[in-house]
Amino acid sequence: MTRPVTGSAPIIAVDGPAAAGKGTLSKRLAEALRLPHLDTGLLYRAVARLMINAGLDPASTSGESIARALSLADLKRTDLRTPDVDAAASLVARDNAVRQALVDMQRIFARKNGAVLDGRDIGTVIFPDADVKLFITASPYARAVRRYIQNGGTDDAPDRDQRIRTVEIALIERDHADSTRASAPLRMADDAIRIETDALCADEVLAHSLRIVRDRLKAKNVNFPSANMQDLCS
Ligand code: CDP
Repeated sequence: MTRPVTGSAPIIAVDGPAAAGKGTLSKRLAEALRLPHLDTGLLYRAVARLMINAGLDPASTSGESIARALSLADLKRTDLRTPDVDAAASLVARDNAVRQALVDMQRIFARKNGAVLDGRDIGTVIFPDADVKLFITASPYARAVRRYIQNGGTDDAPDRDQRIRTVEIALIERDHADSTRASAPLRMADDAIRIETDALCADEVLAHSLRIVRDRLKAKNVNFPSANMQDLCS
């Protein structure tokens, strides 16, 4: 067990592949439940950004010392979602020493007041005893379309299909790297609930997730007075 469950605010793990909608869901879930939210991908992105800026190559150098010195303030940088950081973060995330260096930060954050954490290994490694585990996924094509629009792509762009295909290929490569790495690979925890989001809009994913959270917390007798679950789920 990584924490005593009784008497503390819930920890909700949201895992899944890139661009599946974990970020949007987790942010909205945290707001609805009045819990802190941590996008753990930002940890790997921030290490990657700091390495790139220091002229260090994440393919051949360990970011362990940068990871050990990382603070929550580093996650507020506005240059963490660039294509070079996308690729470097995936390399950084393969490094077991970096992952180990970031474990405590994630656990301390969530244990303080409960939290919604989204990432790849929250339900399997960081909080194997999380109160609720969701695994959010969608087809590579649906995820590519979302990422294309997120990056400012429009439906009437003449090169729309080609650009979506390029994004889709990059996502498939990153999925492969994330799920085949030796250290904390992307994998659904045995007790996680899988939500396929291809045919669901963000509101539907949120409503479905809130019902799961309510039922799980009730079944586990987790006392959670800070949000009225009945109102949220009606
Ligand atoms: O937003 P997107 O899904 O594109 O990526 P992200 O969640 O910001 O994660 C960036 C990279 O960090 C991923 O490619 C993963 O390799 C890695 N990551 C991880 O290994 N473990 C986590 N808990 C979160 C992210």
